[in-house]
Amino acid sequence: MAEVQVAPAEKAFGSTARRDAWWVEIIPVIVLLGGFGMYATLRAVEGKFYEWGPYLSPFYSPLIDPNHRWWPLSPALLILVGPLGFRVTCYYYRKAYYRAFFFDLSACAVGERKKSYCGETKFPFILQNVHRYSPYVAILFLYFLWRDVIRAFAFDGKFGVGAGTLVLLINVCLLTLYTFLCHSLRHLAGGKLDCFSCATFGTPRYKAWRGITALNEGHMLLAWSSLVSVGLADLYVRLVASGAIRDVRLF
Ligand code: FES
Repeated sequence: MAEVQVAPAEKAFGSTARRDAWWVEIIPVIVLLGGFGMYATLRAVEGKFYEWGPYLSPFYSPLIDPNHRWWPLSPALLILVGPLGFRVTCYYYRKAYYRAFFFDLSACAVGERKKSYCGETKFPFILQNVHRYSPYVAILFLYFLWRDVIRAFAFDGKFGVGAGTLVLLINVCLLTLYTFLCHSLRHLAGGKLDCFSCATFGTPRYKAWRGITALNEGHMLLAWSSLVSVGLADLYVRLVASGAIRDVRLF
């Protein structure tokens, strides 16, 4: 007797048999990512209070044309695409904001918003694949941020440490970890290889891949902590530069 195949009924958007509070997971994403997006946009277009003494806000680094000789808008807008592109296309953030903002899908075993899912094979989402190359751009920005931190140790030509120095230092450390634990760099170390021992530089690549893989488990944590730290670092510089608070000199 022929077997009759019955297609599973399609779930309506948001319907699920799950009894747990699956939606709790997306609320912090909406709050944090949405809040950061609004704050960063306002700060990027503000175009002032980004520098004080030896401190430079990470949103404005590297600082290009601050005197508006050829660029009439905020200097942050000239460089924003680099760090923003890296973060927006990050594999972890993609999962987080697809779920929280596009509801596509909101959680496992929960009805999807649309029925014709085509992944990242079409414009504009096919552009997400640029993340394979964006870590190189991010590393270039790290160079400028580390240079800013070194400058933040010099007050009127003398060595010194202020609260802002520490804020910028912690921020760049978190950003460095976040960048170097990127999945794309892990792929660079060990991707496309079936046999490490047969490959050129196989042993160091295997060690690098093992190390990045182990640390990569903390990528989500670093994605959030570096997001918060970069926002706080900018806020600190803004508050000091605008005179709202005074920088505390530690040494
Ligand atoms: S996967 Fe998150 S930064 Fe590359």
